[in-house]
Amino acid sequence: MARTVVVSGGGTGIGRAVAARFAAGGDRVVVIGRRADVLSRAADGIGATALPADLGDPAGAERVRAELADRFGTVDVLVNNAGGNVGTGDGAADGLTDTARRWAGDFRANVLTSVLPTEALRDLFTPSARIVFVSSIAAYRGSGGGSYGPMKAALHPYIYDLAADLGPRGITVNAVAPGLIDGTEFFGGALDDERHAALVAQTRTGRAGTPGDVAEAVHWLASPGAGHVTAQIVQVNGGAENGR
Ligand SMILES: NC(=O)c1ccc[n+]([C@@H]2O[C@H](COP(=O)([O-])OP(=O)(O)OC[C@H]3O[C@@H](n4cnc5c(N)ncnc54)[C@H](OP(=O)(O)O)[C@@H]3O)[C@@H](O)[C@H]2O)c1
Repeated sequence: MARTVVVSGGGTGIGRAVAARFAAGGDRVVVIGRRADVLSRAADGIGATALPADLGDPAGAERVRAELADRFGTVDVLVNNAGGNVGTGDGAADGLTDTARRWAGDFRANVLTSVLPTEALRDLFTPSARIVFVSSIAAYRGSGGGSYGPMKAALHPYIYDLAADLGPRGITVNAVAPGLIDGTEFFGGALDDERHAALVAQTRTGRAGTPGDVAEAVHWLASPGAGHVTAQIVQVNGGAENGR
């Protein structure tokens, strides 16, 4: 039976691949993002419904809840994929005001965009619903001194608490933590060849990940067969967490 699947950040990169994977499996997919044009192009390409919203804003999450309740009634799968490393810059050189701006920006981009839709949709989740977050390898080993890794790490204990809270309803809550994934807007052109090669060299697979690699892991965690897997963070990084 077709499920209602909601994918945040479904207009580009990993989220788009996740949305396409569920759509290919026959599910009804709703993609969410801030840029309406990007979102509707992606939605048209994979047969999904576009729902533009800023999920870092309580009003945006509230509007998403109202639209989903109105159009679909319930939600079977929520993939909290929206996020990014917005807190880049040189903290030492830029001073405390800029440091505060960058940390708050990454908090909004990675924590609020996951927490607000999850809390907004609580009463719409079906029995045996699946919630999957997209964390990062940076939650385990940092990302070079910035605020991005700590914000992804902040999601992990939230996931554990949520799994305990929603477990009695038959709902599972998990995350995937990707390493370097090509074919996304994540680095915004800021990843040079040398850094890319260094990150690939840390993998045991000898390659960068693809959005499809992450989509397959998310799709499995959301499958009926994964019903006894909850409160887990699945690393999708070619073994790079232990890389040298
Ligand atoms: N690429 C990697 O190497 C990598 C590695 C580890 C983890 N990740 C994580 O993977 C997830 C997906 O990123 P990606 O790599 O696919 O990069 P991406 O192409 O930049 O995708 C991020 C998506 O999130 C959406 N988004 C950002 N802020 C939002 C907000 N406030 N409200 C609604 N949507 C928002 C963006 O759309 P709009 O700008 O239109 O809103 C965009 O579609 C992120 O959580 C990222 O941290 C990526």
